[in-house]
Amino acid sequence: MTYEDVNEVKANFDNVYTAPTPHSYLKLMTHHGYEISDQARPYCAEGAKLMREINGDSAPLQMLDVGCSYGIGAAGVKFGRTFAEMTRFVKDDLPQGYDDASNTMREWLNGSRTASTIHCVGMDSSAPAIKFAIDAGLLDGGIPRDLEDADCTLTEEDLQLVRTSNYMISTGAIGYVTETTLNKLLPELGTQINGKVGRWCVVTILRMFDTEPVRESFERHGFKFGQIPGVFLRQRRFADDEERNGVLEMLHERGFDTTGYEDDGHHYANLYIATPPDQYHLLEKRLSEM
Ligand SMILES: C[S@@+](CC[C@H](N)C(=O)[O-])C[C@H]1O[C@@H](n2cnc3c(N)ncnc32)[C@H](O)[C@@H]1O
Repeated sequence: MTYEDVNEVKANFDNVYTAPTPHSYLKLMTHHGYEISDQARPYCAEGAKLMREINGDSAPLQMLDVGCSYGIGAAGVKFGRTFAEMTRFVKDDLPQGYDDASNTMREWLNGSRTASTIHCVGMDSSAPAIKFAIDAGLLDGGIPRDLEDADCTLTEEDLQLVRTSNYMISTGAIGYVTETTLNKLLPELGTQINGKVGRWCVVTILRMFDTEPVRESFERHGFKFGQIPGVFLRQRRFADDEERNGVLEMLHERGFDTTGYEDDGHHYANLYIATPPDQYHLLEKRLSEM
């Protein structure tokens, strides 16, 4: 079954991904109890922390967030802001007008006590989301591309951003983003940064998606790919009974036990990492111990 077939079963939120400001995206996601970015945030932050501990000053840390939306990964990992905090702030305090919204968001982020010096790059098919994230100071660089489109390739500027990114995360986006996108990013990822370790990836994948095409893509490009055992991350509530029934049926057909997970009315994802093979144990050990 292809990702396209599986996506047929999932509710479609495409229209809110492309608004100029994050108001409607965050409102809708809150309505559906979206929480994967907060569930994954500690793992994404810990991967970044470990990489810095090992590399010290020998290499800068640049994070590429694939399917970043309005800079959600950067808000969590760089600025220490949870998705829930960001949602509350946007609902209560973010003006509707574009300039006021991006300036107000920037001021709020600058007030973050836990902001770190990570450089953040975001890649998303939504050009408006990337634009807002850059203007608000969430992202230092953006790649507004739909690399699922066979005709879409990375520009020289994009390539430079990917080659200088030695850490990649993706939360809630695999499925929209498939091996087609990965096959364009992975050969370039982090190739221009030296350091003791690098080219580390932390991704969440919904249990309903087959992970084999993703594994094959990582392995084809020289990475070791695997699951962090025992980590189950809630993504969001099912949008309605139709989605719930479709997902449960699909998981049962594939032999999954949904007791304690999807049976409670939510999508669940697992946590995966990919690194150069000789570095895999470092990240696996740290994330498994959390
Ligand atoms: C559910 S949101 C996840 C956003 C964010 N990572 C988070 O966890 O909150 C899915 C994101 O994938 C993006 N997306 C959809 N199709 C895509 C594609 N072909 N390439 C890149 N991003 C895509 C959407 O624009 C949206 O921002």
